[in-house]
Amino acid sequence: MKRIGVLTGGGDAAGMNAAIRAVVRTVWHHGATAIGIKRGWQGLAEADGAVMPAGSVSGILHKGGTILRTFRYPEFATDAGTAAIGKALRKLKLDGMVVIGGDGSFRGADKLWRTFDLPVVGVPATIDNDIAGTDRSIGYDTALNIAVDAVDKIKDTASSHGRIFVIEVMGRNYGLLAAQVAMATGAEEVLVPEIPYDIDDVCRRIEAGYDQGKYHAMIIVAEGAGKASYITYEINNRLNRPARMVVLGHVQRGGAPTAFDRILATRMGHQAAELLLTGTHGVMVGIVSNRFKTSHLVKRTGSDLASVKRSWELAKLLG
Ligand code: F6P
Repeated sequence: MKRIGVLTGGGDAAGMNAAIRAVVRTVWHHGATAIGIKRGWQGLAEADGAVMPAGSVSGILHKGGTILRTFRYPEFATDAGTAAIGKALRKLKLDGMVVIGGDGSFRGADKLWRTFDLPVVGVPATIDNDIAGTDRSIGYDTALNIAVDAVDKIKDTASSHGRIFVIEVMGRNYGLLAAQVAMATGAEEVLVPEIPYDIDDVCRRIEAGYDQGKYHAMIIVAEGAGKASYITYEINNRLNRPARMVVLGHVQRGGAPTAFDRILATRMGHQAAELLLTGTHGVMVGIVSNRFKTSHLVKRTGSDLASVKRSWELAKLLG
């Protein structure tokens, strides 16, 4: 009977549990055995894996985080780390593996495939949505909704006090999350790493908004575009209005996945296990225009800059 591993790597993302559940149940449907690798790449290096019966994934679909947990393992880039993983794979006797994570995890998966000839399929999961080859990655929709909810709440207090708020959202070097938070909340300003900005222009726009009768100014900053603390400081130096800051941080990564993420993760996890067990590997599963698409694990064109620009332009135009 084939033994198929499942691992979550990189930063956790809401919906990873739904993906694990789909992989495990699909593997058993095929008459194979599911092996859960605990603690991500570090757990793999320590051969920390155990059989996951179909029943072991009951009651996890709606839960945030990852029941398998996730740890980074930079040693995989070294000879010693690679040797440890090779030894662990022999011990675990895996015939294939589904890797759920972001680009870093896919580089690891590609290495497993090339170095150890282990069939692998990747499932994109990161709140950054910066993975080329899929319209959405697991966790993005949940993070977007959490951030939108937070901005709505902050806006109430901002309006009451006539304040400017600078709100920093995650996304690493990619600005889509910030641009779409801005669009969904009607924010007055949005700063993303892909598009240069001038702090004096930002201040002029904010002041113009107050002149037109606004009671607040919400500025959404992608973490890759600058620190909220710095931007707030610069605004307070230029404008005679109080500016406050909020860094949403890891709040965006936790909590129950949205229905969208549960469905996305279920579809992708199932498809990944199907592909692996029917002989397709060395790929990641994506969904583009609502259809499955497979792409190379690492050789993919960069993330979708046009989407960031479209969202940014619309947020700016209407904000
Ligand atoms: O990649 C997901 C992400 O949450 C990024 O948005 C953020 O920059 C980073 O991970 C934070 O990493 P850590 O949890 O290691 O601080």
